Amino acid sequence: MKLHIADMLSTQSAGHISFHTPGHKRAGADITELSYSDNLYCPAGAIRAAEEDVARILGAARSFLLTDGSTSGIFSMIFAAKAAGANKLAVPYFSHPSVFHACGAMGVEIIPIEQDVRRGIPLQPVEEAIASALQQADALLLTSPDYYGFFAPMAAARRLCDGEGKPLLLDGAHGAHLHFCDDYAGKFADMWVDGVHKSLPALTQGAVVSAREGFAKGLLSAVRTFRTTSPSYPILSSVEYAVKYPRKESIERASVAFKRGHGCLENDDWSKILVPFGEKSDDAQAALEAQGIYPEFNDGNYLMFYLSPCTKEEELEKLASALKTLPRGDMKEDAPAGGIPIYREGL
Ligand SMILES: Cc1ncc(COP(=O)(O)O)c(C=O)c1O
Repeated sequence: MKLHIADMLSTQSAGHISFHTPGHKRAGADITELSYSDNLYCPAGAIRAAEEDVARILGAARSFLLTDGSTSGIFSMIFAAKAAGANKLAVPYFSHPSVFHACGAMGVEIIPIEQDVRRGIPLQPVEEAIASALQQADALLLTSPDYYGFFAPMAAARRLCDGEGKPLLLDGAHGAHLHFCDDYAGKFADMWVDGVHKSLPALTQGAVVSAREGFAKGLLSAVRTFRTTSPSYPILSSVEYAVKYPRKESIERASVAFKRGHGCLENDDWSKILVPFGEKSDDAQAALEAQGIYPEFNDGNYLMFYLSPCTKEEELEKLASALKTLPRGDMKEDAPAGGIPIYREGL
């Protein structure tokens, strides 16, 4: 598939002399908005073509490329929801801090949704808890998948939102790789974020926020409010590349088999493998890192290994043989949620 932004960058003339920002004056991919490179605020060239392709792939009416992380997408969705009349937002207690910061900044009241915690893991809220919070709110925001690889009850949430005529927002910071699947946030939400840099091959901070028809215009004003006016072209082109990156079913299957073979947490998302080490989790992390194997996080019970379509099967095999030598400890059954930083703030 054509890569509009990378192709545009490759047309740069060899003798490009920079009398423009950025100050390093080296041109290359890290340029600013020039006559030939389009403009993120009002895209009409390569960026617009990339955004249109991305929207088609993600099933959106409009998609907007972000160079400032899912955080700016979350701010944009909440801003657009508020502009459409959502003064109260139902959100699970253990949502990402950006959700609470956005609500605080915009004067949106949070209606918390109860979640159970098991072994320190905040579980996805059940339908009854969502329904009860939604009755007091004007809109709903859920996270799917979450950092532990659990899907939110998105079909139930869609039904509840349709029943009450309220918008559904989904934080898919950890779910961009799922756009091939039925459990993709974009199949259910009115507005949603894809944290492309986390689970697809994009540079850090590359993300997308999308809307279905009816929410696209509001989301456009919102991204104009929150996106940078100095976008990074390396990040923009990497987001387009990553969304167009092909599915790799062999690593998905290898992950499912790995989880079964190593007594891992039974979660929904192939890209997140959680190995239970309990009280030996620090020792296991140190032993793995001594062999050059770095997990995503250690919550004091589980080590989490984050996969993507770029993970090689040999790397998973190397992890498997390293795990065989590592003792497992007793699980801390009453571990408080908050073992990983994003859950420490909460309400
Ligand atoms: C659930 C969730 N939402 C949103 C974010 C924010 O994403 P970003 O760091 O790309 O701004 C994160 C980051 O860890 C996250 O875990």
